[in-house]
Amino acid sequence: MTHASAPGKIILFGEHAVVYGQPALAVPINQVHTDADVSDSDRAGIWVNAPDIRLHAELSGLALDDALAATISMVCSALNIDFARRASSAEAISSLSDETASQKDARRVIPDGIEIKVTSSIPLASGLGSGAAVSVAIIRALSAHLGQPFTDEQVNEIAYEVEKIHHGTPSGIDNTVVTYGKPIFFIKEQPIELLHVAKPFTIIIGDTGIPAPTKESVRDVRKLWEQDKRRMETLFGVAGALAKTARQAIEGGHPERLGALMNENQRVLTEIGVSSPELDRLVEASRKAGASGAKLSGGGRGGNMIALSTKENAEKVVDALYIAGAKNVIVTEVT
Ligand code: PMV
Repeated sequence: MTHASAPGKIILFGEHAVVYGQPALAVPINQVHTDADVSDSDRAGIWVNAPDIRLHAELSGLALDDALAATISMVCSALNIDFARRASSAEAISSLSDETASQKDARRVIPDGIEIKVTSSIPLASGLGSGAAVSVAIIRALSAHLGQPFTDEQVNEIAYEVEKIHHGTPSGIDNTVVTYGKPIFFIKEQPIELLHVAKPFTIIIGDTGIPAPTKESVRDVRKLWEQDKRRMETLFGVAGALAKTARQAIEGGHPERLGALMNENQRVLTEIGVSSPELDRLVEASRKAGASGAKLSGGGRGGNMIALSTKENAEKVVDALYIAGAKNVIVTEVT
């Protein structure tokens, strides 16, 4: 059996604006993760077993645009293994399928059948990167099981193609932070920049419990952008500037400065139309309990919010979030 795990993530600054070329900051969250286990099977074909979503099916029984099916097909295609019976996007795959002679040599004998089991503690559609974590865990475990573990770059490239199935025009921030498992400063289509955290800080993550597909909020933001590009690009620019200032604060050892920047980012996100009454309630409750800043994180409209707190005050913020209706709260130390 071959095992791989991928963490969840939060976006600290710059969601949505990042889709339009602005910088954003994201960090992995190791308290939640997706695990993929790949084993040989007596049954022919590729069997996918994902009990969390009550799925147990052979690859050919999954829809062509199913993200799991696409992930598996892309891995097999990149390895020139044709026991994947279908591919979601010939175009996406063609760029990944250049196999070197040494890769061919390293390829192991492929069994008739394999089973891929996927389990996850990352809530779906909550802004914690569950889609990217599922992709990354499967890509790592499957490529390793088939004798050719992919590099981070290869993993990230395929996970990005899968993100396009999840929500059309992704920036790539989710797959990148989940693949590398480190805090990042991210600009779409630019080389990855790791973020140096000079002084650790505490972030509290509150879940509204309301699933909110990123696809929808990204689509709605695009509609607003099409209606009034100048206004929206000004707002995106403010978010981008906040991300840059936040990077300086984090790398300069002044995380206490992040609170005010988070509040400002939340104001921009509200203007962009991606907050919600439930998110606003949790943001407000955490601030009242002493958090120096709070904002939604990810696609918005539901899902999770984040608050900056001192370590000493964290418990008070956690209690306040539960009282205000949070379905789950995670305390994490960004290092
Ligand atoms: O997938 P989520 O909900 O964590 O959010 C992704 C962040 C967005 O900026 C809204 C979309 C993107 O592709 O960057």
